[in-house]
Amino acid sequence: MQPYLDIFQQLASQYFRQDRPVSKPISATELEQIIDFSLGVEGAELGALKQAAGDYLNYQPASAQVDFFKLLYSGHNNPALLGDWVTSLSNANMHTYQMSPVATLMEQELINQWNRLVGFTTASQTGDGVMVSGGSQANLIAMMIARHQACPDIKVKGFSDQALVAFVSDQAHYSGQKAANVLGIGTDNLIAVASDNQGRLCPSALKEAIEYSIKQGHKPFYIGLTAGTTVLGAFDPVPECRAIADQYNLWLHIDGAWGAPVLFSQQHKHLLKGCELADSFAWDAHKLMNVPITAAVILTRHQGMLEQTCGGGGADYLFHSDENSAYNLGQKSIQCGRRADALKVWLSWKALGNNGFSDKVDQLQVLKQGCVEAIGISTELHMIGPAPYLNVLFQYRPSTDLNEEQLRVLNIAICKSMQTEGGAFVDYAKYQGKTGIRLILANSDTQASDISRLLTNCIKTGQSLVTTS
Ligand SMILES: Cc1ncc(COP(=O)(O)O)c(C=O)c1O
Repeated sequence: MQPYLDIFQQLASQYFRQDRPVSKPISATELEQIIDFSLGVEGAELGALKQAAGDYLNYQPASAQVDFFKLLYSGHNNPALLGDWVTSLSNANMHTYQMSPVATLMEQELINQWNRLVGFTTASQTGDGVMVSGGSQANLIAMMIARHQACPDIKVKGFSDQALVAFVSDQAHYSGQKAANVLGIGTDNLIAVASDNQGRLCPSALKEAIEYSIKQGHKPFYIGLTAGTTVLGAFDPVPECRAIADQYNLWLHIDGAWGAPVLFSQQHKHLLKGCELADSFAWDAHKLMNVPITAAVILTRHQGMLEQTCGGGGADYLFHSDENSAYNLGQKSIQCGRRADALKVWLSWKALGNNGFSDKVDQLQVLKQGCVEAIGISTELHMIGPAPYLNVLFQYRPSTDLNEEQLRVLNIAICKSMQTEGGAFVDYAKYQGKTGIRLILANSDTQASDISRLLTNCIKTGQSLVTTS
């Protein structure tokens, strides 16, 4: 084992060097020329493994650096890293208490804490939940519980003729489509309801869409709201949609994969006003909480529904009845083997406490506000959507008149050029027909000076691309 530990230590200390570029863009064909990906009949020496692991890290974008603004996560979380390493070491398996005694109790505590924050656990009720591979799986399970509530026979007998119809906003994450596909609902039966000019699902449009589907003889069963949409960071209105869900007897889910951590913050939790009224809730710890992928949870205020929906099988060889069988989490999950993601989340929560996460949200919101103000006073940068959370979507517009298509091409070129030149790693996204640069603020090490450098770089890059075109 020692040689492997030595290699790991060397690679880790090289990886944490701050001077490595945030990204080294390289095409797949070039990479195939540089690294030998072939596997052979004969085994290789340790030196070849060390070389391959080093190459792997060398070309991997450095998502923990302050210039990484591309995705909905960034930054270091050392307690969580420790947890991830120990989890690999232990190879625990979350299906049964026997195979993960400490992790099981850690997961239970996490589920309790998450349910308290959402408001599913109160003096009169206890929320339920299970950790999942990500927001996509959490949204899938939510739709599956809703399907089970609407038509319990489907679990055993499969579908009858009547179409089940689900509703999300036109800003919702594409995992809704995956869920509709996997669950046999059909993606045509996932209705994208119009959002308002703040990117929030429009309740009157939702009601109209539900009425329309009933008139067609279909059976509405699920409303999926988003807390922190992927492009804009918008929060859908919960109480208004709860009233509609009650009127038509529909399941109300909130996808908080990105936005849920506002619940830590006294200052910003109003964005999720009424979330305790939902039936289920998705929360990714591997986004703003900075825990290495994968770490997420599906929560519900309906005790027993997870097990009723997902449970079944395995009793003859795995789920033995013994004094700890009540602690087996496996029947709440759609997985059999499941990694012990609880340890890394638990360790980072223990280290930071609720206050640590609250400070992070508050600090990043201040940084975001500064960024939006800087864009507001710039003559060349323009916001193309509201920024209620930690997403900033803006366009570079030169003084020459360009149409939307030309602006789209230019803004994409700015992102690509900055990445190639060793600058910041940002992405682009489209909102209401306009394509702009999407900046995600997720790293608490990021300073106002980093944002200012980035905005200046966007302008300079834009200017030079316009001059050379
Ligand atoms: C709002 C929202 N929901 C769900 C997801 C999917 O999460 P995961 O990648 O953890 O499956 C994302 C991913 O970005 C997201 O932005």
